[in-house]
Amino acid sequence: MEIIQEIEELKRERDAVILAHYYVEPEIQQIADYVGDSFFLSKKAVELPQKTIVFCGVAFMGESARLLNPEKTVLLPDSLADCPMAHMASPDTIQELRQQWEDLAVVCYINSTAELKACADVCVTSSNVVEIVRALPQHHILLVPDRNLARYVAEQVPEKHIILPTGCCPTHDRIEVAQVRTLKEQHPDALVMAHPECPPEVTALADYLGSTAGILHAVSQSSASSFIICTEYGIRYPLMRDNPGKHFYFPETTPICPDMKRITLEKIRAVLTDGDTPVELAPSLCQAARKPLDRMLQLAR
Ligand code: 13P
Ligand code: SF4
Repeated sequence: MEIIQEIEELKRERDAVILAHYYVEPEIQQIADYVGDSFFLSKKAVELPQKTIVFCGVAFMGESARLLNPEKTVLLPDSLADCPMAHMASPDTIQELRQQWEDLAVVCYINSTAELKACADVCVTSSNVVEIVRALPQHHILLVPDRNLARYVAEQVPEKHIILPTGCCPTHDRIEVAQVRTLKEQHPDALVMAHPECPPEVTALADYLGSTAGILHAVSQSSASSFIICTEYGIRYPLMRDNPGKHFYFPETTPICPDMKRITLEKIRAVLTDGDTPVELAPSLCQAARKPLDRMLQLAR
């Protein structure tokens, strides 16, 4: 039997639904029931009737789905697919800064461990961070763990004091401004579309700055015909599929997240067959880490 057919049958048997991030390989996006950015997938996870969620993405995504759905089984096709940035801030640093600043809100990018989320007041994704930070009553904002996202927010919300962290996404942070400039010289009419996880020299060149879903939407609405894309290469598949006739150029050192690429059809079949690695979190951690996620869903509505 063909592997895709096997996955379909296993899904029916296990009452499972497949969620996938835009950064996974095209063949995974093709078989997923829902594909989206981090915010869309978090919202989707709480609306679905199925008992089992197969999360085709990295560990923090599976953890967030589990935190929001404690009664469901959440399966990660590869338990080693982990976002390095999720570990680039520590609960200790947060506690220290809480002592230093009165009137501090701790804002945690969803790309973080459950332990880090448990110390935060609210979670955010790249598509709602500006809206949420603006709406917070506190003046001082510690936004962990991405320094590039925090810098972007500091520009967008100048009325707040944003404390910059030190972490970054290795995939976006290594996008080189020189390569973006070269592409711009080669394609002067192309618009630069960048994710806020990119370094500030790159975001400074952007005609549009936003989440993966934001970039997809902006491209489809644009009358331009060519685009320089500064985010992970997996987005090329929906860009090409949804925009025939438009041209997409990526930096020469192609931005590829190796962890997202760990997800394969074989691993999805295996996890639906064995289902022996559900995401598990200690109940006390679940309680504390769920609160900032719920608050995000309320504030971003
Ligand atoms: P978004 O899905 O919010 O665009 O974030 C990108 C990302 O790096 C996910 O790992
Ligand atoms: Fe983490 Fe960056 Fe990969 Fe997203 S693209 S999972 S932020 S390393």
